[in-house]
Amino acid sequence: MNAALLQRLRKSLGERQGSSLRRKLVARAADDPRINLADNDYLGLARDPVVVEAGIAALRTWGASSSASPLVTGYTQLHQQLEQTLAAWQGYAHGLVLNTGFAANAAVLGGLPKAGDVVLADRLVHASMLEGIMASGARLRRFPHNDLDALELMLHEEPALEGVIFVVTESVYSMDGDGPDLRRLSSLRQRFGFCWVLDEAHATGWYGETGSGMQEHQGVLAAADIVVGTLGKGLGSQGAYVLSHASEVRDALVNFAGEFVYSTYLAPVNAATALAAIGRIRELVEERPRLQAMSVEWRDALCAADFAVPAGDSPIIPLILGDSDVTLRYAETLRSSGFMVSAIRPPTVPVRTGRIRISLRRGLEASALPSFLSVLKGISR
Ligand SMILES: Cc1ncc(COP(=O)(O)O)c(C=O)c1O
Repeated sequence: MNAALLQRLRKSLGERQGSSLRRKLVARAADDPRINLADNDYLGLARDPVVVEAGIAALRTWGASSSASPLVTGYTQLHQQLEQTLAAWQGYAHGLVLNTGFAANAAVLGGLPKAGDVVLADRLVHASMLEGIMASGARLRRFPHNDLDALELMLHEEPALEGVIFVVTESVYSMDGDGPDLRRLSSLRQRFGFCWVLDEAHATGWYGETGSGMQEHQGVLAAADIVVGTLGKGLGSQGAYVLSHASEVRDALVNFAGEFVYSTYLAPVNAATALAAIGRIRELVEERPRLQAMSVEWRDALCAADFAVPAGDSPIIPLILGDSDVTLRYAETLRSSGFMVSAIRPPTVPVRTGRIRISLRRGLEASALPSFLSVLKGISR
């Protein structure tokens, strides 16, 4: 290995050593008995029998791989059925499936904004969105988290442009479990005419009468111009999608997005399991309010135990502990006490906001909360 490169790698890794920020991969066992409060399978569909059977059937029909990029032969009738189902479910005319949510955000925000455009993004948007925006050449301005007054002020401040103004938000933020008022965003969009890109990654399945997400839940179905979602969280599968009202958005991604054009396409089995998961999610109408109530119950109990957690009803509860060392200590104790949790530290979250990101799921036993609390209380702060 080239000596200069090795030295450079060792230096940057050394900066993380000793600062509680160094990441290590831990291989999970299939039969790990711990209570999982870490992954994003909020509806427990990754192991749902109907979903798994759909996957097995697709493996038999289509094999293990798409075997090519989508413009060659990778795009199958299953992918087409999935994109049409997703679009109809969420109120859009057009959909396109991509390999990951990261790729979908990077493709949309790296490809649609151009030099001369402005992107106004919430300060906490996901790394994949920032990656796209930075590559796009557009000017980036960030508004304080969920502060739509600040966004409105920025919209007033922006001089008349030749180009396009994009507004970029999530509906449930991945590390905070909160989100903006989508009704107000929708009315700002009507007043100012910007292009609104909304990431619904963490809302799908948990919110909305039919489970299609936060736009449905807040009564503004399909208000955003472009929705990015992932199949890898509430849908219990793998992959992602982009929805839009204009066919040109889909066509532009099909023609110009390297993430789509130059990569072996998502395996058909993932499209099949996502399709089955959508069917299951639609059936969970009565369970959804109960899931949201579970989130409120966990938050109330954590607050009563003197842990500062924000109000809300999403599946993501940030237990903010501040210091990275303290966060690691909590995570290690919880892990050795039967809970699968992860310590979220900078740069994933802002400095001094290290946290345990509790992620709830359908099927979590009622006894999980008191035992989680008793482990927490046993850790000296
Ligand atoms: C808000 C948000 N968008 C997109 C992604 C990326 O999705 P995927 O895991 O499918 O790459 C994530 C994943 O963590 C996310 O939290």
